[in-house]
Amino acid sequence: ADRTIVTAFEDNDGKPLGHGRMLRKEDPRFVRGRGRYVDDVQLPGMLHLAILRSPMAHARITSVDTSLAEAHPNVRLVVTGAMLAEKGLAWMPTLSNDVQAVLATDKVRFQGQEVAFVVAEDRYAARDALELIDVEYEPLDPVVDVRTALSPSAPVIRDDLEGKTDNHCFDWETGDAESTDAVFAKADVVVSEDIVYPRVHPAPMETCGAVADYDAVDGKLTLWSTTQAPHAHRTLYAIVAGLPEHKIRVIAPDIGGGFGNKVPIYPGYVCAIVGSLLTGKPVKWMEDRSENLISTGFARDYIMRGEIAATSDGRILGIRTNVLADHGAFNGTAAPVKYPAGFFGVFTGSYDIEAAYCKMTAVYTNKAPGGVAYACSFRITEAVYLVERIVDCLAYQLQMDPVELRMKNFIKPEQFPYETKTGWVYDSGDYAPTMRLAKELAGYDELRAEQAEKRKRGELMGIGVAFFTEAVGAGPRKDMDILGLGMADGCELRVHPTGKAVVRLSVQTQGQGHETTFAQIVAEEIGIPPQDIEVVHGDTDQTPFGLGTYGSRSTPVSGAAAALVARKVRDKARLIASAMLEVSVADLEWSKGVFHVAGDPSASVTIQDIAMRAHGAGDLPEGVEGGLEAQICYNPENLTYPHGAYICVVDIDPGTAKVKVRRFVAVDDCGTRINPMIIEGQVHGGLTDGVGMALMEMISFDEDGNCLSGSLMDYLIPTALEVPDWETGFTVTPSPHHPIGAKGVGESATVGSPPAVVNAVVDALKPFGIRHADMPLTPSRVWEAMKGRPTPP
Ligand code: CDP
Repeated sequence: ADRTIVTAFEDNDGKPLGHGRMLRKEDPRFVRGRGRYVDDVQLPGMLHLAILRSPMAHARITSVDTSLAEAHPNVRLVVTGAMLAEKGLAWMPTLSNDVQAVLATDKVRFQGQEVAFVVAEDRYAARDALELIDVEYEPLDPVVDVRTALSPSAPVIRDDLEGKTDNHCFDWETGDAESTDAVFAKADVVVSEDIVYPRVHPAPMETCGAVADYDAVDGKLTLWSTTQAPHAHRTLYAIVAGLPEHKIRVIAPDIGGGFGNKVPIYPGYVCAIVGSLLTGKPVKWMEDRSENLISTGFARDYIMRGEIAATSDGRILGIRTNVLADHGAFNGTAAPVKYPAGFFGVFTGSYDIEAAYCKMTAVYTNKAPGGVAYACSFRITEAVYLVERIVDCLAYQLQMDPVELRMKNFIKPEQFPYETKTGWVYDSGDYAPTMRLAKELAGYDELRAEQAEKRKRGELMGIGVAFFTEAVGAGPRKDMDILGLGMADGCELRVHPTGKAVVRLSVQTQGQGHETTFAQIVAEEIGIPPQDIEVVHGDTDQTPFGLGTYGSRSTPVSGAAAALVARKVRDKARLIASAMLEVSVADLEWSKGVFHVAGDPSASVTIQDIAMRAHGAGDLPEGVEGGLEAQICYNPENLTYPHGAYICVVDIDPGTAKVKVRRFVAVDDCGTRINPMIIEGQVHGGLTDGVGMALMEMISFDEDGNCLSGSLMDYLIPTALEVPDWETGFTVTPSPHHPIGAKGVGESATVGSPPAVVNAVVDALKPFGIRHADMPLTPSRVWEAMKGRPTPP
């Protein structure tokens, strides 16, 4: 599997050029080390910024003395929260309509919170000077355990919010409590389980940073920034800082991985801007690894009680869940405004059930803010984990095969578009063939036979199954906005006189290969080879407005925009072709890149001929303007709902409790596939992420609120050594409302793989009578689960 060697721009099914395997256009620069990241930006006279962070999780600031730091010979500026407060900049909005301190004024609320910053002539002096700032703290009791955050004796973290007397953040519910209670009451079997999705971190290779360059003469601010959403960030800077939007240029150059971590606006970006405004010089801020892990957006941190009701023969009737969500000190969740719990509402999964209900309580704790969508569409990972774990608990209880139980309850192809009991309209899906293909690729029946043999010998082998439906491509602007900005995306296509083209996008790649796939989307529609189409993105001065890349929304939203803008250009090209060939538009036929007269293929003009004519001498048809270009803004009709079936095989060493992932089969359905090679790469990365979360990753804290996971020695992320050779397959169920039928895929594997791995580990431990164990399933956790239980025969 996945050993296909891509040698060149391969054809796909004999089609000339467009969709298909194609080497990535961006790789020549990446493999030569010629990528240009924020930290590569060097400007004349550039200064360096470092941030002083709180050593405590919860403390009152009684004094800040910056005099020694200011006296450092290489220091140009020291700024405290009090100074920002004078300018009205000490607090900023979060993506969830909460506020977050840029620099702490009254209290620090998590370890690693920003307290002051220094701007110096070099990075070393800036860091040295941090040690010269003397902050006095009066320690307060921290709230670390989310389960006690609402107890009346818990100290109030957010006393900055008027009238706040507790740590309650928000309540949210979805589905129907009454009808769900009714199906639970009539069910033969009810299974409940406490399921924790621990706090994890996206941990991109490139940490966050910015270079701010304010030109006082023309009043223009240029900000190179590690952002997944340059346009949205620019608008927010304009609103919050009161800078004119047209005088702000946000450039997201090459981004070394985002995974949701680069969606929020962090205090560091604002500090860099303030630093440049106050010094009149360009200012660079770049986090180190610990700062990234300790202070930037975390993900998950849901404590879930999952309940499932079924008939004794395995017909699922209802799913009920209660969630306690830890949102840290400030609610920094990245999600559309109407969805405080993101898209957790899809927790009914891929199953046709009678009723569902979820109640969620979110609380503040003394931990870093976040709730970012780490490689998933706004909390879908948590939802899929919950349903796929609880369905496996039901299989355990009923002594049913987990594949059979799932197959029995799948939404049927004829039921699409399918409205779930929590109100999500799945656009299309055909689940059983995907599950069957995964079974076949894995050799499922043989694996079960092997497992039965091994169990007789006391060997611990597990087979884990997971099936997911994702909801990606946020989103229809009638329902979805981020801080008031509708989630639509613009796209502009310009064909030059010689037939070469440039397509400008509002989304921003962080390694997903947009420079290649978006050229392919346009190529497929307009017949210009992808090599002749330049993709421009990540620069607000060069691209149309749009909400950026996260939640696998690029292909569902901007991909649709790219296809439609190309069709718009093609429509214009058709008018010009009809004049060139002197036939009516109705007599023209299109085959990729060429218009020819119906019935006479020799009478033809290419898109390149037309481009020259559109810009050249001579008359154009009545009403047709010169040039060959178009612009659109695409507002998606619905989300797209990719799905997939994953099967994982693990072996557990009974002596050390170490889990080895032996095999992993992933069958993904993302509708029309633009570049299968890139899709496989996306899936490989996501699966690796999933194994990491299932077995290794967790941001943990001690009882004082010290973060114990501030380095990659403590926060383990998987390498090629910890993962198997991935085995992938695919089915194709196009999206009916997307112009080319494509659904997103970037995050499918991160969403679908953690339950597959955990289900496999729990399956291996079945002889011990174990039905559930919480992630990350490190050797100590697995050991803990097995300990004290009777050894299997
Ligand atoms: O928003 P993001 O780019 O992270 O996710 P995506 O839209 O799922 O796309 C990830 C990469 O896979 C992009 O290069 C897509 O164009 C490509 N892709 C594809 O080739 N075919 C699909 N059906 C979906 C995505």
